[in-house]
Amino acid sequence: MLERLSNKRVLLGVTGSIAAYKAGEVVRRLREYGAEVRVIMTHAATDFVTPMTFQALSGNPVHQHLLDTQAEAAMGHIELARWADAILVAPASADFLARLRLGRADDLLMAVCLASDIPLAVAPAMNHRMWTDQATEDNIRVLRSRGVLTFGPDSGDQACGDVGVGRMQDPQILVSNLAEVFESGALAGLHVLVTAGPTREAIDPVRFLSNHSSGKMGFAVAQAAVEAGARVTLVSGPVSLNTPDGVKRYDVESAQQMQDAVTSCMNDVDILIATAAVADYRPEQVEAQKIKKQQDELQVKLIKNPDILSTVKQRYPACFCVGFAAETENLEHHARTKLHDKGVDMIAANWVGDTVNGGFNSDENALRLVWHEGEQELPLMNKSKLARAFIGHIAQRFYVRHKSALTGDNILHFDKKENSES
Ligand code: CTP
Repeated sequence: MLERLSNKRVLLGVTGSIAAYKAGEVVRRLREYGAEVRVIMTHAATDFVTPMTFQALSGNPVHQHLLDTQAEAAMGHIELARWADAILVAPASADFLARLRLGRADDLLMAVCLASDIPLAVAPAMNHRMWTDQATEDNIRVLRSRGVLTFGPDSGDQACGDVGVGRMQDPQILVSNLAEVFESGALAGLHVLVTAGPTREAIDPVRFLSNHSSGKMGFAVAQAAVEAGARVTLVSGPVSLNTPDGVKRYDVESAQQMQDAVTSCMNDVDILIATAAVADYRPEQVEAQKIKKQQDELQVKLIKNPDILSTVKQRYPACFCVGFAAETENLEHHARTKLHDKGVDMIAANWVGDTVNGGFNSDENALRLVWHEGEQELPLMNKSKLARAFIGHIAQRFYVRHKSALTGDNILHFDKKENSES
């Protein structure tokens, strides 16, 4: 379960409490399990531990000030909020909890908490009388009602010599609790097949046609599907990415090989997510020897590749099929056309060809999800966060369709249900 932390971006907030020294251990454990960590310290926290400690342990500069023009230029509070997959505040002092409840934004940590919509967990640490004071109890109750997770506190000897509830939760348990945040269970028991990366279409033994796809989106989708409890198979074109834990991966080169690999897995696949940028055409003839540059002009005749996605949908209509549409213009129109032409259940459309909207090779992306009865915009964010949101929507649509198939409902019927849900 701790493998859920692999490749996660965790923002660790450290506030003014004697337990701040234990936050170093939290950073170490998070990194051990593969998470990337950035630390924000409040002014009070620096009275207990130096930023240098966290810089050394996290391998990243420590963020401290809201109005530091240099730091803001490098990674400002909004970028920090967008960068992270989860925020953990450990230790969270009584003062921090009170200010969080008020929604203040007068230091960097408060501003980041306010600016983010990702899971926020706090690990309170304070004297046991402060913890049981009515004011703190009220603050915790309100924060929990807003979805803030509280880890601990534990009971035991306190730094002030008292004994009671108020010790920061043990770092190892904190880290395990945080790992659980990334487990949704939305696809538990299902087999998800993801295609990813580019394909390479050989021209001769040393040359090929391909595209700029990095595979990052597909790999992030595979990881998010594992986190959602699915059994995941990944069929990938040539990329330089590590296989996410728990994913069964097959490597292929050409579109034809990708189709063969996908077909061989299709027996019990419930959901196909085709993120691969499959070459639409391949050279009709692959030269046996390297082509020499003897002529001034060279013509390579291209023929169409099989469309893996629509072939699968035709052969396995019960499989919930999601395609991608990478577009440089008329995003919505092309997405709807592909939805109908390929007969699939959902299209995830994204802009390509500029750097503003993420896309190929970028760490960020934005998607417009289009299905027969609706659509949903997923704004620009890092690809792992986007993949989790994307998987959440796929799970929702999968179950709506599944339910309607079981009860014999028609599309009009669940159109209405959908309106009443939203
Ligand atoms: N796809 C596929 N097999 C192909 C081509 C595409 O499975 N031979 C899948 C991709 O993985 C993606 C979707 O189909 O999910 C993309 O659809 P497509 O119409 O091929 O998009 P483009 O290649 O962008 O098409 P066009 O160039 O016409 O816009």
